[in-house]
Amino acid sequence: MGHDGVLLTEQLACYRAAAAEYDRPYTERADLRRLLARAGELPVRGEVLELACGTGRWTPVLAALGDCVTAVDAAAEPLELARVRVTSPTVRFVQADLFTWRPERRYDTVFFAFWLSHVPPSRLPAFWDTVAAALAPHGRAVFVDDGPAQAAHEDVLPDRTAPTVLRRLDDGSRHRVVKVFHDPAKLTADLAALGWTAHIRPAEGNYLVGTAMREADACHPVVSSGPASS
Ligand SMILES: C[S@@+](CC[C@H](N)C(=O)[O-])C[C@H]1O[C@@H](n2cnc3c(N)ncnc32)[C@H](O)[C@@H]1O
Repeated sequence: MGHDGVLLTEQLACYRAAAAEYDRPYTERADLRRLLARAGELPVRGEVLELACGTGRWTPVLAALGDCVTAVDAAAEPLELARVRVTSPTVRFVQADLFTWRPERRYDTVFFAFWLSHVPPSRLPAFWDTVAAALAPHGRAVFVDDGPAQAAHEDVLPDRTAPTVLRRLDDGSRHRVVKVFHDPAKLTADLAALGWTAHIRPAEGNYLVGTAMREADACHPVVSSGPASS
């Protein structure tokens, strides 16, 4: 376990305990509802791997856009809710810790919603190595997350090794959670340094939407086999 292992254990405990209340922002926040409503426009295709699927709010959209979905999360409680929400035979749920899990096969799209911000900066290179290992040639990572403006709505704890916020749950319990409010330009540069070509843009005010391809794939995009235009 690294020096942030205790924090990551607490983070996971938070999501296990928060499963029943996790969906509330999807009901209460109009901007989040708009973001999800536009998810059908994301460049998701083929065989899809969803990381940190939570209660499966994004999974049905991925299932509709792609051929099949493998959705991974470490927490049993939100996974149970996701299994109830998404019963499509093309969707498979897997319980695994993303900080140790390695994909057994490759996918056309690797998608993650509100997960990148929970990866400590020190683990970002290893996380993107896992994404690369999960992508087929010419595959693409697609992600959505909170942008910098969202920091104003969180209880940010000062002077932490990894950026951290405090979450309070309905039962009164308090949990520390990693939360990196990525700036699109800096994240694009950080990903370039790791060998990725990323396009990241603000969306619906407080959010960001990104795509990333490994540089070799971005330089040599797949030539369409569709009908030639005159
Ligand atoms: C902010 S939620 C995002 C859920 C979902 N993608 C969404 O946007 O609604 C973060 C998710 O990460 C999961 N998680 C936390 N630590 C994890 C880990 N080490 N490995 C896999 N999933 C983890 C939590 O269980 C939770 O479902």
